[in-house]
Amino acid sequence: MKAVLLLSALAIIGKCDTNPFELPRQQTFNNRPMIGMLTQPLTEDMKAQSPLLATKTSFIQASYVQAVESAGARVVPLIYDNPDINAEMAKLDHVNGVQYNGGDGGAEYLVFSKKIYNRVKEINDAQISLPIWGTCMGFQYLAIFEATQGEGVLSENAFDSNDENYPLKFLVDPLSTRLFSPLGYGAQKYAENNLTYNHHHDGILPYQFDSDQGLKSAFKPTSISLDNQGRSFVASMESIKYPFFATQFHPEKQQYVFYPTVQVHHDKTAIDANRYFGDFFVAWARNNTQSFASYDEEVANMVQSTGILVMLKSYTGMIYAF
Ligand SMILES: *[C@@H]1O[C@H](CO)[C@@H](O)[C@H](O)[C@H]1NC(C)=O
Ligand SMILES: *[C@@H]1O[C@H](CO)[C@@H](O)[C@H](O)[C@H]1NC(C)=O
Repeated sequence: MKAVLLLSALAIIGKCDTNPFELPRQQTFNNRPMIGMLTQPLTEDMKAQSPLLATKTSFIQASYVQAVESAGARVVPLIYDNPDINAEMAKLDHVNGVQYNGGDGGAEYLVFSKKIYNRVKEINDAQISLPIWGTCMGFQYLAIFEATQGEGVLSENAFDSNDENYPLKFLVDPLSTRLFSPLGYGAQKYAENNLTYNHHHDGILPYQFDSDQGLKSAFKPTSISLDNQGRSFVASMESIKYPFFATQFHPEKQQYVFYPTVQVHHDKTAIDANRYFGDFFVAWARNNTQSFASYDEEVANMVQSTGILVMLKSYTGMIYAF
């Protein structure tokens, strides 16, 4: 079809070379994507595990960093408790995606994370595609930011899904979603197997996506899972207007978290099925061509330059601490 159009266009040029034919512009991809990742409060429990953490106040679980690195991206921390908030907001003009991780937040984190969210929306409104990924608590916070009820949209301690692998139940044809459609019919594997790892007591009930006007107009729920008592929680959602995606389950642990008492699957099938989500997010980040001014500036902002890597002997695993 394209070839035919091109030939006929050439034929026209041949006849009267007034309007030179222009090929459609190729999308230029950014093959040096950098992801801004929010840090979270370092707990006393974590600090007690290593003297190296004595002066540190926030952290990122390394598994989240490794998951996007394995997709070809690098990670810049967005430090939630930096008193110079403008320095953190300024990073959003240089990164190519923003990620909200699982774990614990708190009041100060909530304020910071919402500021980041609103700024990312402004950037997208200015026609710069800046994607967001949210995992577990990150999923929940994205819902909270948009919900008319705010934090009231979250069902706290409502689920028995702490350390469990479940299948997804698609609410819509996966081919109609942005998150699953690239897989074609292969998306059914998530419905037929226990491929998604859950580690949460809180969650968002499916009905909230109908009854809460703010949430309903911002996010489309695409799948649910059932907890051990048969209660449904939304497992994946995507923004209606923006390149924002989130899962209640954890796609970053299969390759990287080996704490012996947790039920994270490490077989090849689980790893293949879960690394898809990091690859998907980083593919969206490649649409964004923002950058730091130089390689030196990239390096100066990366987790490896700004944080220290500490191995915790717990489920949290390795962390970057700031
Ligand atoms: C998924 O896990 C449940 C609970 O352990 C089990 O009953 C079911 O057979 C599993 N499904 C598959 C396809 O492995
Ligand atoms: C961004 O990237 C995704 C995945 O590579 C693609 O499907 C989408 O159309 C792109 N969006 C824009 C606005 O370029």
